[in-house]
Amino acid sequence: MDQIVISGGARLNGVIPISGAKNSALKLMAAALLSDEPLTLTNMPHLADTRFMAGLMETLGVRIEWVKEASVASFHAPEIASTIAPYDLVRKMRASFNVLGPLLARVGHATVSLPGGCAIGARPVNLHLKAFEAMGADIHIERGYVKAAALRGLKGAEISFPFVSVGATEHAMLAATLADGVTVLSNAAQEPEIGDLAACLNAMGADVRGAGTATIEIHGKTRLGGATHHVIADRIEAGTYAIAAAAAGGKVFLKGARADDLQALIGFLTDAGATVATSVEGIEVARGPGRLSPVSFDTAPHPGFPTDLQAQAMALLTTADGDSVIRETIFENRFMHAPELARLGADISVRGAEAQVRGVPTLFGAPVMATDLRASVSLVIAGLMAEGVTRIARVYHLDRGFERLEAKLAACGGQVKRTKDGAPEPATEDAA
Ligand code: EPZ
Repeated sequence: MDQIVISGGARLNGVIPISGAKNSALKLMAAALLSDEPLTLTNMPHLADTRFMAGLMETLGVRIEWVKEASVASFHAPEIASTIAPYDLVRKMRASFNVLGPLLARVGHATVSLPGGCAIGARPVNLHLKAFEAMGADIHIERGYVKAAALRGLKGAEISFPFVSVGATEHAMLAATLADGVTVLSNAAQEPEIGDLAACLNAMGADVRGAGTATIEIHGKTRLGGATHHVIADRIEAGTYAIAAAAAGGKVFLKGARADDLQALIGFLTDAGATVATSVEGIEVARGPGRLSPVSFDTAPHPGFPTDLQAQAMALLTTADGDSVIRETIFENRFMHAPELARLGADISVRGAEAQVRGVPTLFGAPVMATDLRASVSLVIAGLMAEGVTRIARVYHLDRGFERLEAKLAACGGQVKRTKDGAPEPATEDAA
């Protein structure tokens, strides 16, 4: 098994290029199932999760050409060879559940395993299924599988989500592009990845209006064509390195990062005492000597503070000059990193959805274990801040969502290395 070994204390100075967004790419890949013509995605991140999704797409009949060095991948589904997404695939990566809607829309039926819970919460898919039912699909759950059928096609519908769900918004949007009539999604998620998906679908000939607002209108078409689409920059990767720069000190330019997508984080970093400068080319984060200030925040759907940056922000606050309170409002169990940060000397108490972080002057390196993707990168940030050596086990979580993490940090002076101890990687469950 691989480990990440970090010698803390080095400041970060340099440029970090931001990759394409994992959470956009996975849904864009699913969009390729809607058309019999090729969908070419540029700026494709090369990650365990995108490789995994590619594997599932191949079992469904999608032909894939991937030029990894150029970050370009082409997905062509002239025919759907299978409409079944098995448990072993969906359990390992939840985003693969998103093939259900496109299969249902294109061929009228699909059998997709329920994903089950994961390391950050129960994560049901009831809103996804209710949306498909509203569009006229028959949904049955049998032996852990969702069996969905709409043999005469999906119908446009008015769908009002009781709370914001990124996945359900994207999933309903995908399916509605081929429905008969107009679908209106109210209380829709407004994450930048939704806008990216809408742009790609529209390039394929769909008619999606209002993405990025709380109301999205989709005028169904009888068929979609091929397209070439550039995957949006990964705001969570960018936000992670922004926090790393503020935590370790120094000055880092995040090339390609989009400030518009990261307003809540930029406010947080500024309140903590870092200096943030934005331009169309990217975001620069700098921090001088002295301790940062404590900052309290709640996670919230976009444009609020992203839950996917909560763990990283917590790592930064462990050495702030005072107490911070973090409330996690999206997932019920997303503080698994707190006890690991405590192993490095952090003083954190968690009560339900609230974590109190009492800043300490210094963290000290120790062996720690990653529990999910964002938790593991919070440990990398803490390791950069700590005195001495931090060893992070279970780094396969990191590989799901961070492209060339050690290389990107090392290029800025971070003392971050990957080592192998020869033990095999375990089968994993996913939080993405
Ligand atoms: C997406 O998950 C992201 N994953 C997550 O990133 C991210 O944390 C999350 O959105 C919130 O921003 C991908 O895009 C692949 P939700 P998703 O539906 O779509 C509940 C990462 O680290 N809910 O917005 O699954 C749900 O349990 C990952 O990259 C229902 O109750 O999130 C949660 O409490 C982790 N029923 C809340 O809604 C449903 O049918 C928001 O979840 C759907 C969701």
